[in-house]
Amino acid sequence: MSYTSSKSIDPRKVTTFRLQEMKEAGQKITALTAYDALIARILDEAGIDIILVGDSLGNVVQGRSTTLGVTLEAMIYHTRAVVKGAKRPMIVADMPFMTYQVSSEEAFRNAGKIMKETGCNAIKLEGGRLVVDAIERLTEAGIPCMGHLGLTPQSINKFGTYRVRGTDRAEAKRIYQDAKLLEEAGAFSIVLEKIPADLAQKITNELKIPTIGIGAGPHCDGQILVYTDMLGLTIDFSPRFVRRYAMLYDDIKNAVIRYVNDVRNLDFPNENESY
Ligand code: KIV
Repeated sequence: MSYTSSKSIDPRKVTTFRLQEMKEAGQKITALTAYDALIARILDEAGIDIILVGDSLGNVVQGRSTTLGVTLEAMIYHTRAVVKGAKRPMIVADMPFMTYQVSSEEAFRNAGKIMKETGCNAIKLEGGRLVVDAIERLTEAGIPCMGHLGLTPQSINKFGTYRVRGTDRAEAKRIYQDAKLLEEAGAFSIVLEKIPADLAQKITNELKIPTIGIGAGPHCDGQILVYTDMLGLTIDFSPRFVRRYAMLYDDIKNAVIRYVNDVRNLDFPNENESY
């Protein structure tokens, strides 16, 4: 197995400009989620380009069944921690459900609060034509916006299912048009979630800005996964687009079982571990 040594990581801070350069040079963009400083630091040292403080923290950290209950305060709390842990990656914070849909005015106020109170580099919002006004306004004010199309988990109650989106012609056309609209509005990048690989390829080829795929095939300009999925911590969730690079659920559980046994058997702490 070969690992990238830290020497081969470009030390420059990842910015919107750098991501654009990467797309143009055909260099794949790597992204993962993180919700705290500890994991953010590890991802940074491993060379990740973008850390998304996703509202998936509702599922992963808070144990909710959807992302809808995540608050602005929770996003700010976790994003601050991530910003403390990582230097090189671009740090993107998700805007929670109902913090940007009511009006571009409200989106503006809430995005500004996230940027100002956390020190993150950009925000992400879900949806197509409905968020165009908000993206225009935020971008103009200096807040970089990442779009999110395809499966948009904040709309789970509308769709009623987490199935692949854009499999029929009408929905594929709508996603494609929305991608164009987000680019025109000023989005610097778009996450494409759970759509057919050929649709993601068409969008990626026709947009100037980078696309970041999750369950959207190999042709996107970059890939993102939820870090707990790829490390095998969230074992009850295993869609086909997740590749597991570790099984930390088992590793942590086995380590804790050993600790419990050692304490019970008076094996821990030993003389060397005592004063
Ligand atoms: O909240 C999140 O983690 C996301 C990714 C799945 C893209 O939006």
